[in-house]
Formats: sequence, C-alpha cells, structure tokens
Amino acid sequence: MKDKVVLAYSGGLDTSAAIKWIAEIYEMDVIALSIDLGMERDFESIRQKALKVGAIKALVLDAKDIFISDYVFPALQADAVYEGQYTLATALARPLIAKLLVDTALEEGAVVVAHGCTGKGNDQVRFDVSTAALASHLRIIAPAREWGMTREETVAYAHRYGIPVPVTVDSPYSIDENLWGRSIECGVLEDPWIEPPEDVFSWTRSQDEAPENPLYIEIGFEQGNPVSLDGQVSGGVELVEKLNSLAGEHGVGRIDHLENRLVGIKSREIYEAPAATVLLSAHLALEQMTLSRDQLRFKQKVAQEYAELVYNGLWFSAMRQDLAAYVQSTQRHVSGTVKVKLHKGKSMVIGRKSPKSLYSYNLATYDKEDRFDQSAAVGFIQIYGLPVKTQAEVQETREEESTE
Ligand code: ARG
Repeated sequence: MKDKVVLAYSGGLDTSAAIKWIAEIYEMDVIALSIDLGMERDFESIRQKALKVGAIKALVLDAKDIFISDYVFPALQADAVYEGQYTLATALARPLIAKLLVDTALEEGAVVVAHGCTGKGNDQVRFDVSTAALASHLRIIAPAREWGMTREETVAYAHRYGIPVPVTVDSPYSIDENLWGRSIECGVLEDPWIEPPEDVFSWTRSQDEAPENPLYIEIGFEQGNPVSLDGQVSGGVELVEKLNSLAGEHGVGRIDHLENRLVGIKSREIYEAPAATVLLSAHLALEQMTLSRDQLRFKQKVAQEYAELVYNGLWFSAMRQDLAAYVQSTQRHVSGTVKVKLHKGKSMVIGRKSPKSLYSYNLATYDKEDRFDQSAAVGFIQIYGLPVKTQAEVQETREEESTE
C-alpha cells in the first residue's frame, strides 16, 4: 500500500502540478484539502479539479468561523500589526491551515503533509513550524521548494500532464486572500518606486473614486471582541465581511509595505485590509478609554512582540500562548461602542463610549464642574522632579551651547 499525503490545495497552478508531481516522484496517494477562509471561490469545482488531476480524495473545509474567533480576533485584541503596517491576514491563516492539514492527516492515516510554498517566503516557515509543533512525526513535502521549475516550466509540466492551466496564470501578480485581508506581490510591484496600478486592487476603491460623502458607522465591542455594527448584533464572520465591503467602498485599507521577511529578503507588499484597518483602530480607541496608562504602555510592547511571533510562524509556540493569556486578561473591561468615520480612503475614530470608561469629565474639564485639586500638583511636582533637580545640582547636566 502506498503512503498517503495530505496536500493543502488551492486549485491554482502550483498545487495542481504538485498533486501530479508528488504522485510521480514520491509515489504516494495524494489527498487534496481545500480550506475556505472567506475567499469567493467555487470550492466544488476546485474539489473536482483535484480529483481530475489525480488526487485519490478531495476535501473542502469551511473554516471561516474558527479563523475569525480563534485566530483573527485574538490578534485584534493584541493589536497585532507587523512593522506598523501589515495586519497579518496570511500569517494568521497559515497556522490554522497547518492545523487542519494535521487533523486530516491523522484522520486519514497519512504520514506526510504537503504545501505549495516556495523556498523564499514566510509561508513555508509557518507551515513547517506549525506542523512540527502539532505533530512532529509527520513528514513535510513542499514540491515548489523542491522541484526547481520556473513559472514557464511549471506551465509546460501542467500541459504535459493535461493539468488545466488557469487563465489567471496570465496575471503578473501573486495573490493571497482571506477574510482579514488580501495581499498582492510580483509583477511591476517588484519595483518599489512604481505606484501600484489600479488593477492590483479588488476590494477597495481608489481615493478619487470613493464617495464624496462620509459614512459614519458604530462598532460595538464586548471584552475586546467586535459584536455589533450600527447597533445590530452580528457574528464575527458576517461583521468582518460587511466591514470589508463598507470600508473598501470608501477606499479604506490600502497598504504599501516594504517588508522584512523572516528569510532575510526585503519585499514590496501591497495589501487591502479594510475591515482589519477599521477594527484595529476602533479597538485601540476603546482600549485607550478602558485601560490604564500602565496597561496601555505595556500592552503596546506585547503587541509588537505578538505581531512578530505571528509573522515569524510561531503561532503554536508557548511564547505566543503566554502572551495571548496576558492579552485576554487585559480585555475584560474593553466593552463599549466606537464611532468611525469612513471618508476618501481614511478611517477615523471620532467617538467612543464605555460603561467601564476611565475617562472622567470632572477630572478633565476646565469648567466649574472641575474636581481636580490643582494646588496638589505643586507637591506632586516637587517630589516627582526631585531626582532630576538633585542630579542637575551635583553633575551639571545642563548642555553647553558649544564645546569650542
Ligand atoms: N508577505 C505576506 C506574509 O508573509 C503575504 C504573503 C502572501 N503569501 C502568498 N503566498 N502570496 O504574510
């Protein structure tokens, strides 16, 4: 009996060629697994294609709910953004896909999992490390990292074996998408000086073509999770889908990032992430109202660390899990409503309210309701500034105008 391998199958050229290639080179039975994370694809025809190309079995899993509740929202609560720009759509999806590959391999009695990543990107790292964390006995095959074929050679290989070559192979871009965002690489984008042409975008309007009138929306949060839109309670998937279309319509969520890959390459990435952009800023606005200064300051450091762990393929590490526990704990009072204005490519928080707000009008106001004791500030400053004063007297910390 042949060994079985579960391959993450997108229906594209590379993973289709991979079905044939694994069967041929490794002499294994290929089970194709396609996972719906919110791309608008015809998964039944993808399944049929896998069988036609030579898979012994083809499965489709709808993982949209788990993706949002167990991967995307925890990252949102962490305020995770890589290098201040990338909202991590692909990076968050990979560990989930790896987990489903592993689960399927165990169910199907497969000894190998396979994916279509090349040897130059982050995704191979995310798949391989996640697999090692979840089931270290499974072997990993990555045909596109092993076969050494150019794009043209892969097309020729496909023709030779009667593998249908998608018309989109004409597109110069490499695209990955899920509910949390869309990424576009290659083609003219590889010149960092060139403005992205309009045809790379498909979720967002350009600023010029966005409506003249702004749209105001209200997002409700419960313990750090978005739960309603304009007062209407909504499941996570539905809420993210709606926000992608509303904010995309107003040109919100375009990102142009010259990014540092884990494997040492700088690459120019274009992203569209309308819902992520809106939700991340709304969530932070609510934290600013419900967390203390110290919590916010420390949480910002955690956010950066968390984003790097996610980006670098360490979702299933103990380190990420420990930070997640801290993040979760910080969210227990992050409930309330945030008002956001979408206009001409911008998403602006213009209002927030919370039953657990730490904002006190009586402390902030300069009007007659003021309850802040200004005379107490003098004593506070005396003690607060004491070490600076002491040091300056002894060590003359005043900078000289010139040393000459
Ligand atoms: N640069 C992004 C990341 O590393 C996007 C990768 C997109 N992946 C792809 N196979 N096209 O997360």
